[in-house]
Amino acid sequence: APSAAAISAEIAAELHREGPLLPILHRLQKRFGHVPETAVPLIAEALNIGRAEVHGVMSFYHDFRAVPAGRHVVKICRAEACQAVGGVALAEAALAALGTEWHGTTAGGAVTVEPVYCLGLCANGPAAMVDGRPMAAATAEKLVAEVSA
Ligand code: FES
Repeated sequence: APSAAAISAEIAAELHREGPLLPILHRLQKRFGHVPETAVPLIAEALNIGRAEVHGVMSFYHDFRAVPAGRHVVKICRAEACQAVGGVALAEAALAALGTEWHGTTAGGAVTVEPVYCLGLCANGPAAMVDGRPMAAATAEKLVAEVSA
C-alpha cells in the first residue's frame, strides 16, 4: 500500500487548484490505480472538509476505486438498448460465472466487473468491454474466455 508520505505528496501537488478535490482523486487513482482508504482522512484534512464528503464524491463518480482493480476489468453495458437485447441476462450470467458482483473483484484479484452506460455498440448488443477492448454481442462464455486467455 502507498505510504502516507507518498499520498500526501500527490495531494499537495493539486492543492493550488480551485476545487482541488476531483483533481486530487484523479491524481491518486492514476498514480496508485485506486484511491486508498488511508488517503481519505489525509484529503479531508488538507481541504478542511469532512471525510464523509470525500467518500460522497468518490461514490458519486463511479470512476474512483477504493481498492485496486483486478488484473482484468470487464465492463458490461447497462444502458437501455443493451438491456432490451439481453443485457440483464448477460450480466447475471457473467457475474455468476465469474463469481463476483458489480464493482467486485474475483478471488485472487483476477477480474473486476463494472457497469458501463453505453459503449456505442447499441446495434450489436449486448455490449461489453474487456481491458478496454469492446465486445459486441457479448456472452458470458465469451467474456470468461477472454479473461482466461
Ligand atoms: Fe449498450 Fe449502447 S446501450 S452499447
